[in-house]
Amino acid sequence: MLKRIHPGIIALFVQITAVVLIATVIVSQTAIALSLFEWSLLQGLTAGLLSFALRMPVWWIPIHLGFLPLIVVALALHISSTACLALFLGLLLIYGKTYKTQVPLYLSSNRVTQALQALLPESSRFSFVDLGGGCGGLLSHLAEKNRNGVFHGIEAAPLPFLISKLRSLFGAKNCAVTWGDFWQQDFSQYDVVYAYLSPAPMTALWEKASKEMRPGSLLISNTFIIPGVAADKSIQLDDFSNSTLYLWKI
Ligand SMILES: C[S@@+](CC[C@H](N)C(=O)[O-])C[C@H]1O[C@@H](n2cnc3c(N)ncnc32)[C@H](O)[C@@H]1O
Repeated sequence: MLKRIHPGIIALFVQITAVVLIATVIVSQTAIALSLFEWSLLQGLTAGLLSFALRMPVWWIPIHLGFLPLIVVALALHISSTACLALFLGLLLIYGKTYKTQVPLYLSSNRVTQALQALLPESSRFSFVDLGGGCGGLLSHLAEKNRNGVFHGIEAAPLPFLISKLRSLFGAKNCAVTWGDFWQQDFSQYDVVYAYLSPAPMTALWEKASKEMRPGSLLISNTFIIPGVAADKSIQLDDFSNSTLYLWKI
């Protein structure tokens, strides 16, 4: 049943439950006298354990451990509220949609760019889409090197989109970037569809790709497999995150 609940809601439940538990301990006894920071560490520990008990993905545990203690530290540092607001707005413009997409921003490495370039046709015309183009680095490099291709990036997050738009305006003319949701895009117009997403959308991505992509076209996923669908080829790369490119010929 928990699988059907959004992880953000479960995380909120974990944090609130841990706060209530620790607050109950604080008000119901006088024997243990800890500082606010120490209580916040206990809250973090409780939240981490709860997250583990609820079988949230392991990377939630450090988030739960550090969430409240870091707030206490930030309050003690008296960081200006304007700086906090600016930081919050910046993060919102980059990661705000992650709540819905479950795909945060992280960037393909240079090794990935080189490996993709080696896979693209040398002289014949082709079209390439980067699903969730991020800040447009991958796309602009590929467009610069492969003038025989037409490159398209679709990005949902406002700030990365703005950066990639500026890059495309001042960069190679065979590269275009649009703001929007790639689920609304028809994949049949592309020869190569590139995705660097997360485990969450991969099954749905395969359903869409196998319905819309043309026979002979290529789906490439950086790092994330499609459950139950063996890739036709995989390329292991020696970069900082040990990326693997998975290729499916439609
Ligand atoms: C892991 S990053 C990859 C960035 C870039 N493609 C690269 O390889 O460097 C994934 C990006 O996809 C974007 N994204 C996630 N879901 C999306 C959607 N449905 N439509 C458009 N962009 C999306 C996120 O905002 C994020 O910037």
